[in-house]
Amino acid sequence: MRLSPLVVVANRLPIDDSVAPDGAFEWRRSPGGLVSALHPLLRHTPATWVGWAGGTGPAPELPDVDGVRMHTVPLSADDFRDHYEGFANATLWPLYHDAVEQPEYHRRWWEAYQRVNQRFAEAAAQVAEPGGLVWVQDYHLQLVPGLLRELRPDLRIGFFLHVPFPPPELFMQLPRRAELLRGMLGADLVGFQRAQAAHNFAQLATKVLGLPASDRRIGVDGRVVRIGAFPVAIDTAEMSALAARPEVAERAHRLRQDLGRPEHVILSVDRMDYTKGIEQRLKAYRELLANGDIKVRDTVLVQVAVPSRDRVAQYQILRDRVEHQVGRINGEFGRVGEPAIHYLTQPFDRAELVALYRVADVMAVTPLRDGMNLVAKEYVAARVDGTGALLLSEFAGAASELEQAYLVNPHDLDGLKQGLLAALRAGPEDVAARMRAMRDHLARNDIHAWAASYLSALEESGTLAGRRPAA
Ligand code: ADP
Ligand code: G6P
Repeated sequence: MRLSPLVVVANRLPIDDSVAPDGAFEWRRSPGGLVSALHPLLRHTPATWVGWAGGTGPAPELPDVDGVRMHTVPLSADDFRDHYEGFANATLWPLYHDAVEQPEYHRRWWEAYQRVNQRFAEAAAQVAEPGGLVWVQDYHLQLVPGLLRELRPDLRIGFFLHVPFPPPELFMQLPRRAELLRGMLGADLVGFQRAQAAHNFAQLATKVLGLPASDRRIGVDGRVVRIGAFPVAIDTAEMSALAARPEVAERAHRLRQDLGRPEHVILSVDRMDYTKGIEQRLKAYRELLANGDIKVRDTVLVQVAVPSRDRVAQYQILRDRVEHQVGRINGEFGRVGEPAIHYLTQPFDRAELVALYRVADVMAVTPLRDGMNLVAKEYVAARVDGTGALLLSEFAGAASELEQAYLVNPHDLDGLKQGLLAALRAGPEDVAARMRAMRDHLARNDIHAWAASYLSALEESGTLAGRRPAA
């Protein structure tokens, strides 16, 4: 077993097993914000990524991906159902996203969550070198920092939550809330997307565990755990370079022709998830068509919605409803060869996705709640010609940074319609000025700056906490 100075532990590996259109088995990059953020960051570092490869049964042997070692953790069919689909995605995911769908609580799911977290902690303990650094990611693995500290007290442990961390009123619903908080506090540094999340966490540490806490530090078991906001980012330069490639520009040009050369192209790119506000957006679009504010010949909507967690009931219901809505809108407002909505559920490679960003005059990113939303950042980075209007939900983490976007409340249907019209009708100077400010922000705050600020805070936390010597 080769040991690594840096170990990233995340439920997902950056590649996923999938079936190609010809029926063959292939490995493909997994869609989702966590992988999009970490994959470019780790490339060519001597790191190990501990994670799950997407199937059930024994863990497959994977090759290195861009120089990063893949260490797979297996999930059985029961683990998949009770840990991944159950506790992670039908308890924590809805609860952490404002309970926009009802979270479910089952004791069997909690048992699976503990069991799988133990397995991930053991895998990380196996591959981390003495005194090494282990960076645990996201809501699937909140118990890992605590479990890992018991196994390997010599390690420096970071935890980062990619999704929102809810206010006490919601978190208090969790039957095993104390254990979840204790698990996270096994880390030396607990990072969140927004300052509000760190504040919620500190409040809960005091309320549930009786610990002394500020928005920056929590005292536990004679240690000091640092907490803070580290808004995750993208590889801005890489995205811009890809967008500037002549073949991508050419592809964008052809896409516009294939779309019938409309005056305006609106684009949305989401995982098929009820947090993304897809239904509300389609409803707003339908009303604009019905009122005659927009016309199919002049304006088209491209909705990319890649299926996600598709055996979980709430996701199946959402997909059926979205597809019903798309069919209805196309039936009512489309013409032969001119659908009102171009609806695509396929995963795309990066170049094709970036060509879509380049063709979109308006990018509509309107989640009901989102930890960050990297699609919004990717769009801005891809607009190398400085044009393009971003319509952005106030409830996406990205809204705290991309303040020059056309901001909307996606729960307010009229506000959503007005925001969409404002973005469509904005003058070129206004659009360019907003885009310039957002591009400047992303050039300065990219994924490398994110990692540097997190890891330097983690270094400091190690000294503050009086780390034990390497085993
Ligand atoms: P989430 O983390 O909830 O999935 P984000 O917007 O933060 O949402 O991240 C989604 C990531 O998945 C982005 O990097 C986006 O480019 C990628 N993605 C979304 N849809 C597709 C698709 N159809 N094909 C390939 N990548 C996709
Ligand atoms: C969000 C989560 C990630 C997750 C991704 C895709 O970005 O924060 O942890 O990997 O969604 O979801 P999936 O269930 O396919 O891993």
